[in-house]
Amino acid sequence: MTARVSVRRAMRSDLVAIRRIEETSFSRPWTSETFAEVLGAPEMDVLVAVAGGEVAGYAVLATREREAELANLAVSESSRGEGIGRALLARSIEVFRERGVRRVLLAVRTSNLGAMRLYRRNGFRAIGSHRSYYEGPSEDACIMLLTLQVQS
Ligand SMILES: CC(C)(COP(=O)(O)OP(=O)(O)OC[C@H]1O[C@@H](n2cnc3c(N)ncnc32)[C@H](O)[C@@H]1OP(=O)(O)O)[C@@H](O)C(=O)NCCC(=O)NCCS
Repeated sequence: MTARVSVRRAMRSDLVAIRRIEETSFSRPWTSETFAEVLGAPEMDVLVAVAGGEVAGYAVLATREREAELANLAVSESSRGEGIGRALLARSIEVFRERGVRRVLLAVRTSNLGAMRLYRRNGFRAIGSHRSYYEGPSEDACIMLLTLQVQS
């Protein structure tokens, strides 16, 4: 199933919805303060996916010149499997291109096969692992890389 979804830049008024999704998606969720900071930071982009009038997911992008990190991505539990993660990732990659990024890195729990599949289907490849990168529970990270070509 594919939801009717639009992706736009996050606003301060989205923070409550973003935090609610974060809380139910991760064992070590980012705090409200962290989200408030990234919303105001010039090197960060925060995108939200809106479906049925509600914030259904978000992505946090961190860019340092030509290198970037997909720092956070989540979709609300009740809206998963509807193409919202795919839409967020597609728009994130467009934003990276607009910023002139050549390499996008991300870290994902090695047990998170669904997320890894989403990333692989959108051009990321595994380039290594980071031992015991995560806590609660302790787990290795798979490091994935997307290389973006300069468009003429
Ligand atoms: C990972 C996550 C963002 C995917 O979002 P989603 O909206 O459910 O994903 P989509 O419906 O857009 O699926 C897109 C693709 O991702 C892959 N995928 C997503 N969830 C999957 C799952 N549970 N099992 C297998 N593949 C999955 C599939 O390849 C799918 O494409 P396909 O159906 O054409 O094969 C979502 O499950 C989530 O928020 N999880 C908790 C937070 C998290 O793990 N974030 C990533 C941290 S690195």
